[in-house]
Amino acid sequence: MHRALAPMNEAARLVLGIETSCDDTSVAVLECGRTLRSHLIAAQDHRLYGGVVPELASRAHLELLPTLVTRALHEARIAPGELTGIAVTRAPGLVGSLVVGVAFAKAYGLGLGIPVTGVNHIEAHLHSAALEHGPSPWPAVALVVSGGHTELVEVRGFGDYRWLGSTRDDAAGEAYDKVAKLLELGFPGGPEIDRCAAVGRPDAFVFPRPMLDRPGLDFSYSGLKTAVATALRGHGDPPYPAALIDDIAASFQAAVVDTLVVKSMRAIAATGARALNLGGGVACNRELRRRLAAECESSGVALRIPAPRLCADNAAMIALVGAWQFERGDAPDPDLDAIAALEESGLPIPRE
Ligand code: KG4
Ligand code: ZN
Repeated sequence: MHRALAPMNEAARLVLGIETSCDDTSVAVLECGRTLRSHLIAAQDHRLYGGVVPELASRAHLELLPTLVTRALHEARIAPGELTGIAVTRAPGLVGSLVVGVAFAKAYGLGLGIPVTGVNHIEAHLHSAALEHGPSPWPAVALVVSGGHTELVEVRGFGDYRWLGSTRDDAAGEAYDKVAKLLELGFPGGPEIDRCAAVGRPDAFVFPRPMLDRPGLDFSYSGLKTAVATALRGHGDPPYPAALIDDIAASFQAAVVDTLVVKSMRAIAATGARALNLGGGVACNRELRRRLAAECESSGVALRIPAPRLCADNAAMIALVGAWQFERGDAPDPDLDAIAALEESGLPIPRE
């Protein structure tokens, strides 16, 4: 347990976190940047459409937010007037979804007379492990692997980052979702592939390990998806036999995990990092966790992977970074608005 220090900045004492960047509506109350008083995640159901429908996502956020906030305050046993600050995801993400969260946060903050700070969703993923594992040793490498991002970042402290690598095309989670679609496993595909891969043979198919033979820390997954589609062509039309699905899932997953593990360990070697912090929905993957645990143990690096609830999109990590921003004394931004693209979001992670 960490000592519950009183925050230097009063706004950081009881922060309401709001996350609406994609299809999960989440609200959290965080005390002194450490103690989660409540944390709710309402996962929307987009299975019928085989992917997130932005218009439906933003409408659902609009409907869910007021109720979730009321419930989160109730669970935290506090009245709205006791909140000292609000942290809301402002970028990157689906613009319609972000706009709902930001507009709600600004109106709620105005009504309560408390400051609102905008949080970068990727920066929050870099630090979400701290909610469970406490302060990270620095320097650290953070691997953020989600449906929209595959990012390797050197983290030398809060706000002190260096970009190491990204995907050149599809994100790792996107590749999982696309391959799951080919296998008719439903959406989101990551958990289903994880499940099938556990009983399949990882060496049944030899899929490429994109960019592993090249220097640098970038990733590429679109060719891997094409390789899976090509392999399936020799097996007739879906529905495919369960054993084939399991083998494809295991072989595909082995290729993705290989690239993520090798590049993460290369990043650690290049930076002298003492910890590897994971974030994003793909960090829930059991094989990835198993392989990284083995590699980090033999390298003497602290592996910090949060529980699945804190890996996927969640408001607790937004409240955490928001609390740190209040502590740092960030001035409230009167022009706070939603920004869809990471490149335009002003995230202080220089790309070289
Ligand atoms: O971080 P997240 O909840 O949302 C964003 O995309 O921001 O990540 C969702 C992604 C989806 O692509 C989903 O298929 C993937 O995370 N995912 C997994 C697993 N659980 C979720 N991928 C592989 N293995 C899993 N167990
Ligand atoms: Zn995310």
